[in-house]
Amino acid sequence: MTPQERILALRQTLHHHNHLYYVENRPEISDYDFDQLMRELMDLEAQHPEMADPNSPSVRVGSDLQNAFEQIPHKYPMLSLGNTYNRGEVGDFYRRVSEGLGGAPFDICCELKFDGLSISLTYEHGKLVRGVTRGDGVSGDDVTANIRTIRSIPLQLPAEANYPEEFEIRGEVLMPWESFEALNAERERQEEPLFANPRNAASGTLKNKSSQVVAHRRLDAYLYYIPGRTLPTDSHFENLQVARSWGFKVSNAMRLAHSLEEVYAFIDYWDEERKNLPVATDGIVLKVDNVHQQEILGMTAKSPRWAIAYKFQAERACTRLEEVTFQVGRTGAVTPVANMQPVQLSGTVVRRASLHNADIMHQLDLHLGDWVYVEKAGEIIPQIVGVAAERRDATTGPRVQFIQTCPECGAALVRYEGEAAYYCPNASACPPQLKGRVEHFISREAMNIESIGPETVDDFYERGLLPHHDAADLYDLTFAQLLSIDGCRERMAQKVLDGIQRSKEVSFDKVLYALGIRFVGKVVAKTLARHFRSMSALREATYDQLVCVEGIGQIIAENVVAYFQDERNQDFIARLTAAGVQMELPEEQKLSDTLSGKSIVISGTFTHHSREEYKALIEQHGGKNVSSISKKTSFILAGDNMGPSKLEKAQKLGIPLMSEDDFLAML
Ligand code: IVH
Repeated sequence: MTPQERILALRQTLHHHNHLYYVENRPEISDYDFDQLMRELMDLEAQHPEMADPNSPSVRVGSDLQNAFEQIPHKYPMLSLGNTYNRGEVGDFYRRVSEGLGGAPFDICCELKFDGLSISLTYEHGKLVRGVTRGDGVSGDDVTANIRTIRSIPLQLPAEANYPEEFEIRGEVLMPWESFEALNAERERQEEPLFANPRNAASGTLKNKSSQVVAHRRLDAYLYYIPGRTLPTDSHFENLQVARSWGFKVSNAMRLAHSLEEVYAFIDYWDEERKNLPVATDGIVLKVDNVHQQEILGMTAKSPRWAIAYKFQAERACTRLEEVTFQVGRTGAVTPVANMQPVQLSGTVVRRASLHNADIMHQLDLHLGDWVYVEKAGEIIPQIVGVAAERRDATTGPRVQFIQTCPECGAALVRYEGEAAYYCPNASACPPQLKGRVEHFISREAMNIESIGPETVDDFYERGLLPHHDAADLYDLTFAQLLSIDGCRERMAQKVLDGIQRSKEVSFDKVLYALGIRFVGKVVAKTLARHFRSMSALREATYDQLVCVEGIGQIIAENVVAYFQDERNQDFIARLTAAGVQMELPEEQKLSDTLSGKSIVISGTFTHHSREEYKALIEQHGGKNVSSISKKTSFILAGDNMGPSKLEKAQKLGIPLMSEDDFLAML
């Protein structure tokens, strides 16, 4: 078999296993074997650039080229659906359809309404050629490169399937709850703004400029409509079953209803059962099943007359707004909080709701004493979604204003460019900021001083046991001081001191995180610690040196430099150092000379260790890690998603690639 033939064979095999895994949920080979085949394909493709194919299964990993989205007109306009909110309106729809069809019998195809963003896919000769967003319905963004990374969207339909030469299929791109939660958890660690719900996350992701980022975010897609006239059968329902046989992911939660009662039964069932689905849904879509009957009914300017959406009721309550208070966090950010008369909502009593920031608060136009609607966003956090302005009367108070000075320390608030939040700039004397920083310092992921909790910090602060108002004061606490606190017995005092003592062993990267430098979350702290190795080296680092470190952007670099310039922080670090807190990472132990004299480039993403860990491993075995590929590079430690430009360069210079597993085996 020639390498070219092998490439074609591998592609076919990988398409097949991809479908089994992502669409049918019944893999036949292990992830490991799949990865081996994929690696072989990618290696061969790198050696044979003439065989490049945009639909190769290897494109699933995305590219680090920047996508520019071209506007593409839709062949058939992408309409939206009329909405209904109760049984009565569903009944009205059913009767309108019946009248429109002159009393002829008809079936309704009942489907879930997936809460993502709609997408139109075009296939020619069984190959995916284009993916376009809805846009304004007339034309949308060409997001093909990103679409190709979605594993459940087939790039190549099986040869034996009997599909039209050219056809379009539409559906919804969405982010499963699991991916959504993982993504937000990661963003929280990185101190990046969270996505409010899976729909926003899916839409933000699909419009991301890097398909590599998209590939990491694990989107999914359900297909639910084939427009045009080249349809396999007269039944929408049947057509989708056929599309499933072509390899598309079509929901199993789809039923033909022969009566209005059957439609209601479907709605009732899924109103409850949807809570167990792995993806977000916000309603039911009802479609007249017969495509000829669809044509008879036709469309209005905005939506088809043959289909309608029934929206699930978000659980909602109405209660009175008593007061808006303002909370100051450790970073000084001020968050408005609505305090309401307690009300029952989806099984819990709700009293408070975050208003997020000044803009969101003002949009709601809240007045004291207003009746407000509260909903659970994504069924998690309560949110005020609106005001019953018609219920205002003489007892209603004035419009709620955002404060101008800090409620805790009186400093004038500031707003930084491009940020939604107001901040109290008085970082060195505003009590909740001071206490917040100490609480952050002792937290589990930082110095892990378990014997102290937030209330204890508050107590220490109020009693003047933290004279510099920072966490370094903890290391000066004495047994006698602790015993002077009411209710603190000897055993307790000893436990607190032991906990503080133990924190001196906590590694430098965690100490760095514990400082609470803005935008330096756990991951960034680790990166900085591994790169600079000591607090003194980091303190000396310039902005330019910082931005050269992989994973360190401009904002982080600016904040790090500013932090070390502040004399109070310098003093704080000096006192921590004097107390014996770890201010450097231990020397890497030399493990072997296996890599002595070797220059190694690390590229891509890895499964067993992080990049920083590989860097350390290379050094421990006598090698040198370099950042760019040159003639002198000995080999490339290549993970997943290695960028195409790097790949090309490596190939041109004849630099070998080594996989993660081979590398570890060698060591
Ligand atoms: S059919 C002409 N089916 O809901 C018919 N749409 O408000 C076109 N949606 O833009 C749409 N699940 O993004 C259809 N099973 C489903 C759907 C669905 C979600 C979305 C779609 C559409 C919006 C209409």
